[in-house]
Amino acid sequence: MVLKGRNFLKMLDFTPEEINYLIELSLQLKDEKKRGISQASYLSGKNIALIFEKTSTRTRCSFEVAAHDMGAHVTYLDPSGSQIGKKESIADTARVLGRMYDGIEYRGFEQTKVEDLAKYAQVPVWNGLTNESHPTQMIADMMSIKEHFGTLSGIKFVYMGDARYNMGNSLMVTCAKLGMDFVACTNKEYFPEEALVNECKNIAKETGATITLTEDVAAGCKDADVIYTDVWVSMGEPDDVWEKRIKDLSPYQVNAKAFSYAKENAVFMHCLPAFHDLNTTIGQQIHDKFGIDCMEVTDEIFESERSIVFDEAENRMHSIKAVMYATLG
Ligand code: CP
Ligand code: NVA
Repeated sequence: MVLKGRNFLKMLDFTPEEINYLIELSLQLKDEKKRGISQASYLSGKNIALIFEKTSTRTRCSFEVAAHDMGAHVTYLDPSGSQIGKKESIADTARVLGRMYDGIEYRGFEQTKVEDLAKYAQVPVWNGLTNESHPTQMIADMMSIKEHFGTLSGIKFVYMGDARYNMGNSLMVTCAKLGMDFVACTNKEYFPEEALVNECKNIAKETGATITLTEDVAAGCKDADVIYTDVWVSMGEPDDVWEKRIKDLSPYQVNAKAFSYAKENAVFMHCLPAFHDLNTTIGQQIHDKFGIDCMEVTDEIFESERSIVFDEAENRMHSIKAVMYATLG
């Protein structure tokens, strides 16, 4: 499997074989790390730029630790730490950074920005999240499911909440590519865009996947293996959407009722960060304004035995390592 020199911008760009290869490589790199095998020669001497126009905990730390483990060096540019967009175009930035770095990670707003960066950089560009897609998260998520269930095929994967944004889009595409049964279970205003749904249904014809959109929680969650959710308001969205989101998406909160329809051994997943209690500034503000203690998932489910969210978070690092190693190594 040759991925050297490739960008990693969105899941639609990859074949099922390539995605499975990255999942297997992630599991292998995780195993090596757990066994204390040095990976320091894998990207020895490489320089990597990390551009974050939005904040991050997992993605930034994963790129940094993965790079360090494999012998590479990183430069972190924070949301205010570069000229990008304000004084210098993406095309010019790409042509400068491409002369200095062997690979560039970019987290930002429109998908067109990361696509432009890749067009001009002449080195591999990795999408660390845009409004439309979050591909590195996909490898970690599928790796986590494979680790837990031993398989991906035939898994019923239910996504609840805002399915129109980066996570819903990317998960639908990934499930379609990997022959899984994907369900977006949410208010119909939050279904993924029709064009992408149709594209995924076409992919599904080839892979044996199924794509279902439903507003019915009982039918949507029936016999689910995985129930997944994400924040109701994403980074970069205005504060005044909270009230409507809470009203529209509360029926699609992941809670004990939703899990009562799922398989007995079903798991809970979330890309994180999650609003499951009041121990965050925003969680507390929302509580003061709307009187709720949690949002997309109850604390009961988040903290339960079913929750594999911290394995999933750890797997961000192993899978980002695989993406960098496969495209640069
Ligand atoms: N899941 C995820 O991308 O987390 P961060 O925003 O912390 O990077
Ligand atoms: N949909 C979320 C994902 C965070 C990892 C956001 O874009 O903020």
